[in-house]
Amino acid sequence: GTAAGAPGSTLVTNIASLVTNDHETVAAAEHGPLGLVRDAAVVIEGDRIAWVGAGSAAPAADSRVDAGGRAMLPGFVDSHSHLLFGGDRTEEFAARMSGRPYTAGGIRTTVEATRAAGDAELAANLARHVREALHQGTTTLETKSGYGLTPRDEARALRIAADHVDEVTYLGAHVVPPEYADDPDGYVDLATGPMLDACAPHARWVDVFCERGAFDGDQARAVLAAGAARGLVPRVHANQLGPGPGARLAVEFDAASADHCTHLSDDDVDALANSRTVATLLPGCEFSTRSPYPDARRLLAAGVTVALSTDCNPGSSYTSSMPFCVAVAVREMGMTPDEAVWAATAGGAAALRRIDIGRITPGARADLVLLDAPSHVHLAYRPGVPLVAAVWQRGDRVR
Ligand code: NIG
Ligand code: FE
Repeated sequence: GTAAGAPGSTLVTNIASLVTNDHETVAAAEHGPLGLVRDAAVVIEGDRIAWVGAGSAAPAADSRVDAGGRAMLPGFVDSHSHLLFGGDRTEEFAARMSGRPYTAGGIRTTVEATRAAGDAELAANLARHVREALHQGTTTLETKSGYGLTPRDEARALRIAADHVDEVTYLGAHVVPPEYADDPDGYVDLATGPMLDACAPHARWVDVFCERGAFDGDQARAVLAAGAARGLVPRVHANQLGPGPGARLAVEFDAASADHCTHLSDDDVDALANSRTVATLLPGCEFSTRSPYPDARRLLAAGVTVALSTDCNPGSSYTSSMPFCVAVAVREMGMTPDEAVWAATAGGAAALRRIDIGRITPGARADLVLLDAPSHVHLAYRPGVPLVAAVWQRGDRVR
C-alpha cells in the first residue's frame, strides 16, 4: 500500500502553525527558513515522518491525533551539554550571585565529585537530566565527558553516555586536573595518547576548552589533531571568557561547531562566515554567570550559521531547557523568535552534521513538539511558561 496509509501510521491534524524548517521540499510551506505551514497535518509512520502538508490534503492513516489548533515544531536539538557529573555546585552559584566572578576553576570541584561517584549513580544522574530535557521538548542531545580527566574516568563517562544520548563527545581536554598542575603538557600528552585510545571507540566528536586557564592554542591544536587522526570530528569551546584562538582554530580544523563565541574579533566572525563551522551560542551560560551575552545579530548579519544549546552543566549553566534558551536569545542576543527557533532545531542539527533531525519533512526522524500555544513565537513571548504539551521521539509519543 501507500506509505501514508501503512499500518501503525498516525495522522496529526489541526496544527494551526507547523515549523518544518524545510521550505524547499514541503510543498505547502511558506517561503523562509522556518518553512511554516498553516492549518497543517503530519503523518508519522514508524520512527519517521511519512507526509507533511496542508490539512485539507492529508491522506488517511491508521490513527488520528487532533492537535487542537496549536503549534508544532521539530524536537529541539541540544548540541552541547555536559551531563556526566556527580554532585552539584549550588554554593558556587550562590556566591557568584553575591558578586564572585565565574572562573573555570570550579570545574575541578565537579571532577572530584565525578571521580568519587559510582557508575550507577552517574548513569542515573544522566538519565534524570535526559528525561528532564525530553519533557521540555529536547529529542536529540549531545553530551560530553570532561569531569573524569583520567583514562578510566573519561572512558567510563563516554560508555555511560552512549547508552543514553545520540551524540557523544570526548572532552578529556576540559581543564588540567590537579595532579598535573605542574605538568600541563604532560596532561596534553595523556589526553592525546592513552586517554584518547581509551575514549575514541566510544565517541563521535573531540572537543577542547581553548581558553586562558584551560588550554592554549598550541595545546588545543594538538588535541584536535590527535582526535581527528583517530576519526573523531572536532568541535571547540571557543572564546567563552575572553578573546583567543579558539574560533579560528575551529575553522582551521573544519570543526562542526565553535561553541560559546562570546568574545569574537571581526576576523573571527569573518573566518566563521567563510566556513561550514556552526557558531553554537549558549545563553544559559551568560545568564548563570551574569556575563555579557554573545552578539547573535552580528554573526547572523555576517552569514554565520547559528545554533542555540543549553550547555547544561553544574557550573556555568545548569538549565536543561531549550525553551528558556530561545527566550533569552531573543530578549538578550538580538535574535528574532523565528531565528531562535530555527537555531534551536535545524541549527543544532547542523552543529551535529545531521540532516535526519531538526526538520519536519518526509523521511526525517519523527521528533515532534506540540505547544500549548498557537505559534512557535510564544516560546519567546511567554518565557518561563511550560508550553510543551506533547512530545514524539522517533515516532513514539513520549509525553
Ligand atoms: O561550557 N567552558 C567549559 N566548560 C563548561 C563549564 C563547566 C563547568 O563550569 O563545570 C562550559 O561552560
Ligand atoms: Fe560547555
